[in-house]
Parts: sequence; structure tokens; C-alpha cells
Amino acid sequence: MSTQVRNGRMTVPQLVAMKGRRKIVSLTAYSSAIAQVIDPLVDFILVGDSTAMVGYGRSSTLGMRLDETIAHTRAVVDSTRLACVIADMPFGSYQESPEQAFRNCAEVLARTGCAAVKLEVNQVLASTVAFLVERGVPVMAHIGLMPQFVNVMGGYKAQGLSSEGGATLLADARANLRAGAFALLLEGVAEPVARAITEASDKPTIGIGASPACDGQVLVTEDLLGLGGEHVPRFVKQYADVAGVIREACARFGDEVRDGTFPTLDHCYGV
Ligand code: KIV
Repeated sequence: MSTQVRNGRMTVPQLVAMKGRRKIVSLTAYSSAIAQVIDPLVDFILVGDSTAMVGYGRSSTLGMRLDETIAHTRAVVDSTRLACVIADMPFGSYQESPEQAFRNCAEVLARTGCAAVKLEVNQVLASTVAFLVERGVPVMAHIGLMPQFVNVMGGYKAQGLSSEGGATLLADARANLRAGAFALLLEGVAEPVARAITEASDKPTIGIGASPACDGQVLVTEDLLGLGGEHVPRFVKQYADVAGVIREACARFGDEVRDGTFPTLDHCYGV
């Protein structure tokens, strides 16, 4: 197990400087408990809008609200001291106009203490990224499979599988790097396209279902722990069966309550 030896919290410029030096490691966290455990193990923690599905059991990320993003990001910042914390801006909080995006991103940065935001963007939204960066908001640009576009895409589909699709993704990447994004998050991107974007980019690329060539990787923590439910996407590697551990421990508790072996007098006061 490799924990990071670090003085203080990882900053955005330090993350950017890691490109070409060593791989960047990231996981999601929405709660204090998970954030505390992963803090020394990762370079940045993403408070993903996957909270809507993983934390609240909703059917997509579209219902995530700004006040929920603020509450979860604040909990993660307050529970950590080493990893850079990045908040995922929820659907509807930045797409309307650059001004709306700035107002909401500024609120997230000010009220949570996180270091940066992540936005799902294309070439059209690159002007919003430029508006934010010029005003002091560090932006990670999420391109490729964008869950907030699920209704436009007609499902969760890997992107860049055709030569036309690949060219669009390269243009999305270029536009957002030109706009000042400090990193690209490539989700569900055809491997050769993710590799080409990484080679062409002077900023780090973070892959999820993209390519081993990316400058870093991120996964939803619950997915790698085996807590993500029945459907395991192709890009997930399960490193543990925590659902099984919870099931077994809780079943034993139930058995012991029923047969009277828990609690014993050792668990009681004033005996
Ligand atoms: O919301 C999220 O957790 C994400 C990751 C899947 C990259 O955007």
C-alpha cells in the first residue's frame, strides 16, 4: 500500500506539474468516512455528481442539486488535509450562461474550500470554461461520455469509436485546453483517441474507461470496493467485495441478536 508523503494539501498547479513525471491517482468521495480513508492514498478526490446515483439511489446524475454538491464537498474538505478536492458541478448549474456558471462555481469554491471544479463540456461550453478560468476558477474539463448528456446520447455510450467521433473529441479537448482547463477528464473514450489526446495535451488527462496512456486514472470508490450494485461497467476493476463483508457482518449480528449471544454483559453498563 503506498500512502503519499506530503506536506499540506496537493494544489492544482502541483497536479498539473505531475504530467510526464508520475501517474495521478484519484477516487471519488461523498462522505467523511470514505474521504478520511482515501485522503493519504490519492492525489485528488473528486466529489462526483455520481453522488446522486451512488449516495441517493437516483436513476441518473441529472437530479443532483447545487446545495447537495456544496454539502458533500464541504464534508470531504473538512475531513481531509492532503488530497486536492475537486467538486463536480451539477447539471443545470453552469450550462445556461458563463455568468450563471461563475456565480455557482464561486459559491461552491467559497462555501466548501475545494480547489477546483469539474464541468462536462464540449466546444460550445469552452467559452464558459474561458470565462471561469479568467476569473479565478480552476476547471477540469470532462469530455467523452458525459452522463449529464444522457438524454441527448440516448444512453451511456462510449465515445470516439468512429473517425468522425474521434475528431470531435480531439476538437473538444483542444477547445477546452485553449480555454484554460488545467486538466481533461476522459470518460468512456475510445482507447486510441484517449491516447492521442493525452499525447497532444500539455495538461494532464485523467481516464475512466479511456486508456492506460492517460496521465492519471479515477474510479468511483464504491465501484472498486464492490459496492456499486449488480451492474459492473467494463472499465471498473473490483479490488474488494465490501458488500460481501457488510452482508456477512450484519447477518452475524442478526443471528446473534436472535439467538441471544449478543449482547453479553460485557456490552452493558453498571453490571
Ligand atoms: O461523477 C463522477 O463520479 C464522475 C466520475 C465518474 C468521473 O464524474
